[in-house]
Amino acid sequence: MHITLYHTHPSLYRDVAQLFIDSLRNNPKTVWGLATGSTPIEIYKHLVAHYQKDAFDTRFLTTFNLDEYVGLSASSDQSYAHFMSRHLWDALNLQPNQRHIPNGLASDLVSECERYETLILEHPIHIQLLGIGSNGHIAFNEPGTPFDSKTHVVTLDSKTRMDNARFFDALHSVPHQAITMGISTIMKAQKIVLVATGQNKAKAIQAMLEGPISESCPASILRNHPNLFIYLDDKAASLLNTHLLNRG
Ligand code: F6R
Repeated sequence: MHITLYHTHPSLYRDVAQLFIDSLRNNPKTVWGLATGSTPIEIYKHLVAHYQKDAFDTRFLTTFNLDEYVGLSASSDQSYAHFMSRHLWDALNLQPNQRHIPNGLASDLVSECERYETLILEHPIHIQLLGIGSNGHIAFNEPGTPFDSKTHVVTLDSKTRMDNARFFDALHSVPHQAITMGISTIMKAQKIVLVATGQNKAKAIQAMLEGPISESCPASILRNHPNLFIYLDDKAASLLNTHLLNRG
């Protein structure tokens, strides 16, 4: 496990974006695991800026997103598919067969989860980007989710719905369900990069790194991953034992 701490955000986001660029330069057929939310936005801006300067080629890139709300179409402003088109997919010229996200409108959600899990098994993820919820969730694996879970339908925690309400017109518009990669799906990625910034992540980061490895903090299982890179700002790291940390 490598933890790097930053005073300023631009260098943190630049360094994380560089990990993804390097993976693609090393292997043009690389598979990226991607996240939505506030955390990746600046990382995606760096990727787009580099792509526009011809820094890398995306023709053979494959991507998988962590999750999608149930009941929102890809054209709905709040869907994660829409978020990804707007912030990354379109600008990187990714074709529909290169970019994957669960279909939250599938008539049979269980079959959709099985389809997505199988697709990931067929295209193993080389580098997975993760944010963390203020309750320690990763993707939409809420506290209590079994560590051996695969892609599944989840009922969202009230804290997660409140955290995400900022992207909707009102709390009641936030869907109650989502499809998410499971914890075992995420753990299969060759390399995991978790990014957390801001004081509201400090408790989750402390529980993840210094608490017990327990399903009550889903992110804590990441400590068992052999190739985990954690990027934090000072606020997210403010409750940690500082001897663990390197400076970025
Ligand atoms: C997003 C996702 C979530 C977020 C987490 C943090 O695809 O799976 O787990 O990474 O909720 O969200 P932000 O970055 O908005 O704080």
